[in-house]
Amino acid sequence: MPLPQNFKAMVVAETADKKFIRDVKQVSLSDLPAGELLIEVKYSSLNYKDALSATGNKGVTRKYPHIPGIDAAGVIASSSTSHFATGEQVIVTGYDLGMNTSGGFGRYISIPAGWAVKLPQGLTLRESMAYGTAGFTAALCVTRLAAYGLTKEQGEVLVTGATGGVGSIAVGLLAKLGFNVVAATGKTAEKNFLAALGAKEVISREEANDTSGRPLQKGRWAGVVDTVGGNILATAIKSTNYGGLVAACGNAMSADLAISVYPFILRGVSLLGVDSVEIPMSTRLRVWQKLAGEWKLDLSGDLVSECSLEGLSPKIDQILKGGIRGRIVVDLSQ
Ligand SMILES: NC(=O)c1ccc[n+]([C@@H]2O[C@H](COP(=O)([O-])OP(=O)(O)OC[C@H]3O[C@@H](n4cnc5c(N)ncnc54)[C@H](OP(=O)(O)O)[C@@H]3O)[C@@H](O)[C@H]2O)c1
Repeated sequence: MPLPQNFKAMVVAETADKKFIRDVKQVSLSDLPAGELLIEVKYSSLNYKDALSATGNKGVTRKYPHIPGIDAAGVIASSSTSHFATGEQVIVTGYDLGMNTSGGFGRYISIPAGWAVKLPQGLTLRESMAYGTAGFTAALCVTRLAAYGLTKEQGEVLVTGATGGVGSIAVGLLAKLGFNVVAATGKTAEKNFLAALGAKEVISREEANDTSGRPLQKGRWAGVVDTVGGNILATAIKSTNYGGLVAACGNAMSADLAISVYPFILRGVSLLGVDSVEIPMSTRLRVWQKLAGEWKLDLSGDLVSECSLEGLSPKIDQILKGGIRGRIVVDLSQ
């Protein structure tokens, strides 16, 4: 099929008085950067970082106008490398996509071939975006905890920000692997949602947020997946058992971490950093294979909802307020 001259995208622009406005409109294909792969995007997804990019966070996106969308799944429309053929289905997450490179909130993206992952067998394009960066990051956290020796026999595993994108997939994956998962959430009305994902217990955000100032709490967790940072991460570290493991991947609460060294030097707790953006391709492929195979979650229920490009704007405001439950797939296929 011949390529169109224009395509539909959500464009974020900066006004003269430094406000950021977003609009769904036609964009010229020639505005995309040069790249080895031109991909017709069928699905994207909404992540916290997209909302930062869509509202002018210069730590994420320096230059506007810009098309956000750190995730994209679609079909190769043209390729200048022998490694990918026209018509192949691919997933793109991380690297510079949607940050300072036009992202998945547009019908086409143009990228270096090194950013693309061939859609693994066992996943549809839509399912890959039901995971998206959030699900991929949750899987990286679980992979890292397991690589450092966490087993289900060791005890309870805490997931913070549990109803969010990373949190909900982390709860689901850990439960599927047989871990005893405790979910910490600000949305205690979502207990049933978390229980259906496999959480054995749900605790409130307040309970996960110790303000006593004590350097150590009674040990409870064998492992932690933290998606929020700040004092909730500090509390989780202080409440981790001897030799326990804490995977930190997010900062929805705060990027600060005020803590003493006592959990590390008296309990041998390890803090493991998780980054999904620059993670090497070998790990990327291995983790996507797991998500498509033995770790595959039921992505058909409440965990995933869907919206069109036109319906995305209010969801962006909602995710910034911590108000989203689960994952949102953006359907660009129509
Ligand atoms: N390291 C990486 O490569 C990587 C990759 C993806 C995401 N991230 C980061 O991970 C975090 C989660 O991303 P996401 O896409 O899952 O976002 P999300 O869907 O908005 O989930 C974040 C969740 O955190 C909780 N939360 C929000 N504001 C909070 C606050 N002020 N205090 C305490 N908890 C709060 C809420 O869950 P409850 O209501 O259930 O508490 C919210 O649903 C973000 O910081 C994101 O930047 C990092």
